[in-house]
Amino acid sequence: MQDEQDSVLVAQQDAVLRLQINRPNKKNALTTEMYTKLVEGLESAQADPNIRVILITGSEDSFTSGNDLNDFLQNPPADSDSPVFRFLHAISTAEKPIVAAVNGLAIGVGTTLLLHCDLVYAAENAVFQLPFLNLALVPEAGSSLILPQLLGHVRAAELLLLGDRFSAQKAAEYGIINEVVAAEELEPLALSKANTLAQKAPEALRLSKQLMKKANAKLIAQTIQEEGKIFGERLRSPEAKEVMRAFMERRKPEFSKGN
Ligand code: COA
Repeated sequence: MQDEQDSVLVAQQDAVLRLQINRPNKKNALTTEMYTKLVEGLESAQADPNIRVILITGSEDSFTSGNDLNDFLQNPPADSDSPVFRFLHAISTAEKPIVAAVNGLAIGVGTTLLLHCDLVYAAENAVFQLPFLNLALVPEAGSSLILPQLLGHVRAAELLLLGDRFSAQKAAEYGIINEVVAAEELEPLALSKANTLAQKAPEALRLSKQLMKKANAKLIAQTIQEEGKIFGERLRSPEAKEVMRAFMERRKPEFSKGN
């Protein structure tokens, strides 16, 4: 599954730990190995007092095109110890603030992971999509809870049930991201906001984030677990396997042949 470019690049810039998703030849689709690297990055940031803020970015024309569908087909996550669920746990419970810079494609978990970040900036070319139902799957990463809370049921249903792509402008209007900027301004802006946060009093910052997240924390953990159980069952369903196989074979899925 892992090719040479499969990677998450980890770099420290002053008090900011930058996690760059970097597998451009596959539109930054996330493999189990990449989830593991992201978990290691998030955990190391948590443990290191010199790191105050985490910055997540993509590369070239993608933030991430979401879970690697081939990997999902070959190695569907078995339980809560699997890398994807460890990643969702790590990002949803991170104590240090997370800033995201979204360029290009942000599909599936590429959009839902943003719901756990604290500041999110996107380039004008960013494209968001929650295609879970199109893949015969269900929402994940707590999005079935967080999006209806954020948007109301009908707008959440528009994103999660219709599963169409939407623009950075719409993501900003819906409150999923903070701001849309020109592509060349994205990284400098995100880094500058990360540095600004990094200069705040660290303990007050940690406590402030904790207070803001507290009311929803248990519910989010419970929802991620419930979604994960159903998501795992769906991944093993004949219809989801057919959709993922069809994607890899560049054809339309067929549901009439016993799947
Ligand atoms: N899983 C596995 N491979 C993926 C992928 C994913 N999520 N997204 C892209 N790729 C691969 C493609 O298979 C292709 O590989 P190949 O060159 O070896 O054939 C390569 O990345 C480039 O993608 P391609 O489809 O040719 O580019 P595009 O610009 O026409 O379309 C996407 C880009 C992201 C819109 C399209 O690839 C797509 O719809 N991907 C699936 C997104 C998805 O459903 N994610 C899962 C959410 S749970």
